[in-house]
Amino acid sequence: MSDVVVKLRDHGPILISGDFVIEDGQGEPIDLAGKTNIALCRCGSTKNSPFCDGTHKDCGFIAENRAK
Ligand code: FES
Repeated sequence: MSDVVVKLRDHGPILISGDFVIEDGQGEPIDLAGKTNIALCRCGSTKNSPFCDGTHKDCGFIAENRAK
């Protein structure tokens, strides 16, 4: 089992937990302030990119990804 878990939340963000690094488009690490659990936006509507701010609940974002 991996030390990092990435979960696609139905109609919501990408949840990441564990010991990980998030890099920006230029390879620079984003300051996570020591957090080991974060939610990345995948609806594109957040005002706090790259993090989820809950806006997906109001923008009609639909996504259900299943392993099979
Ligand atoms: S997934 Fe939550 S604001 Fe985009």
